[in-house]
Amino acid sequence: MAPSWLERAGQVFLSNYYPAQVTLVRGEGCRVYDDAGREYVDLLGGIVVNSLGHCHPAVVEAIREQCATLMHISNLYQHPVQVRLAERLTEHFPGGRVFFCNSGAEANEAALKLVRKYAHERFGAERHVVVSALNSFHGRTMGALTATGQTQYHEGFEPLLPGFRYVPFGDLEAMEEAVTTDTCAVLLEPIQGEGGVVVPPDGYLREVARICRDRKALLVLDEVQTGLGRTGTVFAHQFDGVVPDVMTLSKSLGAGLPLGAMLARGEAAETFQPGNHATTFGGTPVACAASLALLETILADGFLDKVRDLGGFFRKGLDKIAGRRRVASSVRGRGMLLALELSVEAAPVVEAALSRGYLINAVQKQVLRFAPPFILTEEEAADFLGVLDEILAELD
Ligand SMILES: Cc1ncc(COP(=O)(O)O)c(C=O)c1O
Repeated sequence: MAPSWLERAGQVFLSNYYPAQVTLVRGEGCRVYDDAGREYVDLLGGIVVNSLGHCHPAVVEAIREQCATLMHISNLYQHPVQVRLAERLTEHFPGGRVFFCNSGAEANEAALKLVRKYAHERFGAERHVVVSALNSFHGRTMGALTATGQTQYHEGFEPLLPGFRYVPFGDLEAMEEAVTTDTCAVLLEPIQGEGGVVVPPDGYLREVARICRDRKALLVLDEVQTGLGRTGTVFAHQFDGVVPDVMTLSKSLGAGLPLGAMLARGEAAETFQPGNHATTFGGTPVACAASLALLETILADGFLDKVRDLGGFFRKGLDKIAGRRRVASSVRGRGMLLALELSVEAAPVVEAALSRGYLINAVQKQVLRFAPPFILTEEEAADFLGVLDEILAELD
């Protein structure tokens, strides 16, 4: 018998992932299909990427058209789709200027370089420390990895970069102490995604912004996971009434194609000069065309109201489960980025959901994360919540 895709994968890939025993071959809307034709409802969305689901017609059409027009030209030249995308993004980040790249880690690397250079020029090399949060996640490249405040990701890769300091997320006293005359920037996620969908206390980001202003440090918000409607507003920081100096985006930005962005505003936007930073593929026409199609859809009148409503519906269902099942302790998150904390390991629940036809994942050992596509219906959400309740009932 011919070896399966899983067997073949086992021969050729490095062992850096924990792949589920499923080979997916097709997607449509909220559903994906495996090589045996089995259907799954995707509530993970390519890890918070596919906010319009799979193969959304507007995205497919934009990609098709762009592929037939201009696929790649490098950033030595302008191309209209990239300009239009930057204009669309900055409508929601006033005064912002954009650098396009290919991933979240790359966007954060660009941000780290920018804040270092900004401080070097104004205050000298002494002011180079970046303060980030414990339990954060900013990516796997060396700078983003160092900024990530979780030792489990650091182990074995030392020495990390010098000039980083970590504070507990949500702790203003610690932030007051950590941001000193050696600090060039504070880097935070508005809601910690991989850390377990941790929402900081009300007013936290506003106070951090004040501390940064007072101490002349830049505020960088990593909206790679939270941005572009995921938490119910275009960017999560809008909920908190703050505007960062620098913001990073990726994940859903490319509507399924690799695309990242770093946006800077005010004086921070004047930092990079020609030759300071670059990438070959960043903002390539096809990814930008896909992104524009995504933005036109999610920024259409009333679309994010529906995301908030659906998030509220999903959350209510999770709250009910948390109230009813002893193994489910609390619900966290905002909009369509939600988590259920369990008192037991989450991995067997993920497995059980998979076997019942649902893709979800665990962030941290006892936390289930849900990042469904925005096009999920209440009926689909209710069906899943029923299945989740049954799975947890067996563990109660
Ligand atoms: C908040 C945040 N920042 C950065 C990253 C890294 O993005 P990428 O995997 O595209 O490098 C992630 C990935 O999960 C993330 O959640």
